[in-house]
Amino acid sequence: MRKDIDHVLISEEELQKRVAELGAQISADYAGRCPLLVSVLRGSYIFMADLSRQVQPFCQVDFMAVSSYGSGTVSSGQVNIVKDLSDSIEGKDIIVVEDILDSGNTLHYLFQVLQARHPASLKLCTLLDKPSRRTKPITADYVGFEVPDKFVVGYGLDYDELYRNLPYIGVLKPCVYEKSGE
Ligand code: IMP
Ligand code: MG
Repeated sequence: MRKDIDHVLISEEELQKRVAELGAQISADYAGRCPLLVSVLRGSYIFMADLSRQVQPFCQVDFMAVSSYGSGTVSSGQVNIVKDLSDSIEGKDIIVVEDILDSGNTLHYLFQVLQARHPASLKLCTLLDKPSRRTKPITADYVGFEVPDKFVVGYGLDYDELYRNLPYIGVLKPCVYEKSGE
């Protein structure tokens, strides 16, 4: 698997340090409240597990799954809700936890859906931000790292459902997806 990675962009140690900082910031911003962290599956599952353990004293978690990519490296633009939240979010303080904000298609759509359910507040926390590729007017309230326009994998992010279990964020060698005809 390591041979498919061009280089490590963000190490395990850097990830843990930054996630702790984000958790501390969210804990301070939501002092006296109990935010509901909404993880967008599957890419944010590891970030969600680490971040939620850094939010003090209370938070709740729920999960949603959307699909927009198929097996390629460029968003299809078409977003589908594959799994919806388990509970109502009306009147709750919601923080959407996402792996990467790329074109913004997915979150633009998701925010419309969630806003229509009347939460008390709705914020976005993304581990990675690729602002150079944005086509929709979406900005995150909390950003872990800004990344260049390269396809990255690891720490939950996949290519064709692989590499999610890498403990770091790495840049995938283009030959991996070029050879599969993407
Ligand atoms: P967007 O709709 O273009 O903003 O894409 C958002 C989703 O695409 C993310 O939640 C990821 O699942 C996926 N994605 C975008 N860029 C990358 C990448 O570099 N590596 C892995 N997944 C990516
Ligand atoms: Mg994905």
